[in-house]
Amino acid sequence: MSSYLPSSDRVTTVRLAKMKARKERIVCLTAYDFPTAQILDKCGVDLVLVGDSAANVVYGQETTLAIGMEEMLYHTRAAAAGVKRALVVADMPFLSYQTSVADAIANAGRFLKAGAAAVKLEGAGPMRETTKRLVELGIPVMGHLGLVPQSVHRLGGYRLQARKPDEQEKLLADARALEEAGCFSVVLEKIPAELAARVTAALAIPTIGIGAGSGCDGQVLVLHDMLGMFEGPGYKFVKRYAELGAAITKAVNEYSSDVRQGKFPGEEHSFHGD
Ligand code: KIV
Repeated sequence: MSSYLPSSDRVTTVRLAKMKARKERIVCLTAYDFPTAQILDKCGVDLVLVGDSAANVVYGQETTLAIGMEEMLYHTRAAAAGVKRALVVADMPFLSYQTSVADAIANAGRFLKAGAAAVKLEGAGPMRETTKRLVELGIPVMGHLGLVPQSVHRLGGYRLQARKPDEQEKLLADARALEEAGCFSVVLEKIPAELAARVTAALAIPTIGIGAGSGCDGQVLVLHDMLGMFEGPGYKFVKRYAELGAAITKAVNEYSSDVRQGKFPGEEHSFHGD
């Protein structure tokens, strides 16, 4: 008999805090649809991030600025449907939370109704107040510091962040402020490894690194990058664990050749009425 009660195996924000205390590394990957989210969940990935990187790897855009609430809700609903154990975090898209605390609450609520268990916001400053309000209302928030892609035009590209001592002190202060505001975790993107390790040691909440070295409590990668879906060298901080782009190309070429030569469908794929 099935039950409506959540499985006791479910990853929660409380469990993530315990993982940090026990020095257990946290595994996070992005997913944007049902089948891949289901595979990640069955593999035991702890956090499934429905990233606004969907703008890049699903919609082919150069920045994450173009993706909006409606697309992110479709992806969140689809990915969450495939997840039984992991904590699903929905990335709040550009201008869905920066405009006002009221907008942030309304939009974060839509993500939770779509199946996410938490939302992610980029930056500190005014996001401290927004985070506080969301958390007060029962909406868990993941922070994101360092290279914050929604600010790509202000940052002047996707460069390494917080290189100078004053920038490093500011990032550490921002991380502390986000923890104080109630974030359950913070993503550290493309910052020096030494700084990420310092931030990780200073916070009680887990840090999740991407291009931030090995000293974080967990790691995240964009799934399409680590599966080798695209040609070219890619980012230095990405390790390619598969070459799916090449595998798909090979399969499609074989299929095309079979169709053109009349080899597919075969007798075994055909129906006969009698
Ligand atoms: O959108 C995304 O996938 C992200 C991760 C790279 C952290 O924000």
